[in-house]
Amino acid sequence: MNDAVSGFSKLSKAEKINWIANTYFSNPQESVALIKSYWNSNEQLQKLHDEFIENTITNFYLPLGVAPNFLINGKYYTIPMAIEESSVVAAAAKAAKFWASRGGFKATVLNTEKIGQVHFIYYGEAAKLEQCYADIKSKLRLETQSLTKNMQARGGGILDIELRNKTQLMPNYFQLHATFETKDSMGANFINSCLEQFSKTLKEEATVYGLDIQVVMSILSNYVPNCIVRAEVSCEVSELVDKKIENPQEFAEKFIRAIRIAEVEPFRAVTHNKGIMNGIDAVVLATGNDFRAVEAGIHAFASRNGQYSSLSHAKIENGIFSFWMEIPLALGTVGGLTSLHPLVKMSLEMLQKPSAKELMQIVAVAGLAQNFAALRSLTTTGIQEGHMKMHLNNILNQFEATPEERTAVKNHFKQHVVSHSAAVELIENLRK
Ligand code: MEV
Repeated sequence: MNDAVSGFSKLSKAEKINWIANTYFSNPQESVALIKSYWNSNEQLQKLHDEFIENTITNFYLPLGVAPNFLINGKYYTIPMAIEESSVVAAAAKAAKFWASRGGFKATVLNTEKIGQVHFIYYGEAAKLEQCYADIKSKLRLETQSLTKNMQARGGGILDIELRNKTQLMPNYFQLHATFETKDSMGANFINSCLEQFSKTLKEEATVYGLDIQVVMSILSNYVPNCIVRAEVSCEVSELVDKKIENPQEFAEKFIRAIRIAEVEPFRAVTHNKGIMNGIDAVVLATGNDFRAVEAGIHAFASRNGQYSSLSHAKIENGIFSFWMEIPLALGTVGGLTSLHPLVKMSLEMLQKPSAKELMQIVAVAGLAQNFAALRSLTTTGIQEGHMKMHLNNILNQFEATPEERTAVKNHFKQHVVSHSAAVELIENLRK
């Protein structure tokens, strides 16, 4: 029963499903039915999704929600968000509305440089390698011409290539460290193709120069500290007044203190930044971008000074409350899934077909808004009030509550604090 399976990828989709159902499930028929119930009735559409990856058996749904009223650089956006966490979209929408009436969000792309590296081992005198590199640098570029032609026509291409001596980190370790401008594409394929060509040229030329080189790998870096977007909000402290903020000065000071804690305390910083990523990942996913790359790059950036720290910051100066964040974001609005996944295309159209730079701004704002909403709850009512209100639906669904039960439970929790056990007890009592 638990034997390895050979040639699995060559089985048909139906055969794969049958094998899984018969190998792992006590009721194979039921599991096959479940798997099939998530197939799209449009066969063409299903085929498209099947072919995104290998061994697809079905689709895995995430809700796609929207957060309207995001005023960014004077323009209104409705932001699509793909996420399963109950309170995230509601929190984003609330923060958007709050800031729309206080001047909105400002966002600025500070730079857009991408990075890739050829990692190699060289046995010999560094000076000889440096000489060889100086001689072949222009050839490295020249031999990528067929790859860079289209990108250059769009205003992008290779910015620079450097030889880096890394022998202090590891014996005989060197790199070609290259920087790129990839305009509206995330650029992973373009960068990796250029790097593999660099590596080929390097190996060939090293042979001509009689140098002993072993290329270990050629790959882009998801750490992009020079591909930075800044998102910010500001208003007079007195303008912070709101239903839940009676004393704006006290609120602003507590809010800033909460950020200071995340600046100095890694345990808090991780959760604080996770809240930011709730907003970022949801938009990155909805727009067909690589959220793993974004996550890895942002967390590396959060540790750039040697200790993991808050991505966002806040201050009061001359009676003005400012709240901002600068983060690295390598995103694309062309290439990859962007012209392939129908919902990604729809999300990009909803965002008014943004350039990669505009998308960086939107995504950063979604992160900042999420952080604002989380800190506002944490430093006022606590997070559970809003969270459990949203989560109540999940509990009701889990119990397959009838419309009457739903109304009774929701009415009850208008007056009482929501908790999982209280909700369960109430449903059970209603059913007695
Ligand atoms: C929950 O998904 C995110 C928060 O924990 C973020 C935070 O604590 O700042 C609420």
